[in-house]
Amino acid sequence: MNQNVTGQGRFSGRTAIVTGASRGIGLAIADRLVSEGARVCLTARRAEQLEEAASTLPRGSVITVAGKADDPAHRREVFDTVAREFGALDVLVNNAGINPAYGPLVELNLDAARKVLEVNVLATLAWVQGAVAHEKLGFSEGHGTVVNISSVTGETPAPGIGLYGVSKAAVSHLTRTLAAELGPEIRVNAVAPAVVKTRFAEALYEGKESEVAMSYPMRRLGDPSDIAAAVAFLASDDSSWVTGRVLTVDGGLTVAGGTA
Ligand SMILES: NC(=O)c1ccc[n+]([C@@H]2O[C@H](COP(=O)([O-])OP(=O)(O)OC[C@H]3O[C@@H](n4cnc5c(N)ncnc54)[C@H](OP(=O)(O)O)[C@@H]3O)[C@@H](O)[C@H]2O)c1
Repeated sequence: MNQNVTGQGRFSGRTAIVTGASRGIGLAIADRLVSEGARVCLTARRAEQLEEAASTLPRGSVITVAGKADDPAHRREVFDTVAREFGALDVLVNNAGINPAYGPLVELNLDAARKVLEVNVLATLAWVQGAVAHEKLGFSEGHGTVVNISSVTGETPAPGIGLYGVSKAAVSHLTRTLAAELGPEIRVNAVAPAVVKTRFAEALYEGKESEVAMSYPMRRLGDPSDIAAAVAFLASDDSSWVTGRVLTVDGGLTVAGGTA
């Protein structure tokens, strides 16, 4: 992890919330924002893993609040903690996402489907609603940026993970719709990765990584830092005229006709 915090950089003096940040893409995003000067609130369900993740980042630049992204009380606790500890919120990264259901859509257990939509879609919307509504975060007063983590499966159906793709298509469209509603104060964008090497995606490449990578023009799978770099761009002033966009970061997979 990056231990070189200079306090300088695109996020100097800024604050962020990154959900699902105890490992994988979320932790890489937190690391990147901190390395560019941000103070970041990390969330995830399991407190112990969250603390362990936070301990890999420079002391003083991160705080943690454990809880479920889809729990209203947890969201309120995160916003209140950020308001108290940081005084304001500049960047919200909706990264927490789940995919517990595998198989054809026609056989899908609808309770599992509801849970996926609850966490991936409704909680994403609720985090934005909560940030805008919070009376002490100042999120809607000038510098607010939201970055949602979508997926290439939201564009191109992927076998066995259909409902997950449906949820990510919804995240992408939520992104566009919120951007239209919340400008000019708040920008809302998303990043849509193909397979990134994390625990979440292990089943898609374990034991066959080189083979899977061959369908990517870049001939490798994604690293969490690839996604973090794109998120940092969309969260920063470098993208100040970009809103409502879903940036595909996929090593070229989809232009080569592939699917995740
Ligand atoms: N990896 C890929 O290939 C890939 C591709 C496209 C999109 N994505 C998206 O990228 C995001 C991050 O995925 P990842 O690959 O980094 O996954 P990961 O390695 O499994 O990490 C997921 C993180 O989210 C937390 N989390 C899970 N459910 C949560 C919940 N209900 N509330 C709060 N935190 C929760 C986990 O910690 P706890 O378990 O302790 O809660 C962990 O910190 C997801 O939205 C995923 O859909 C991933």
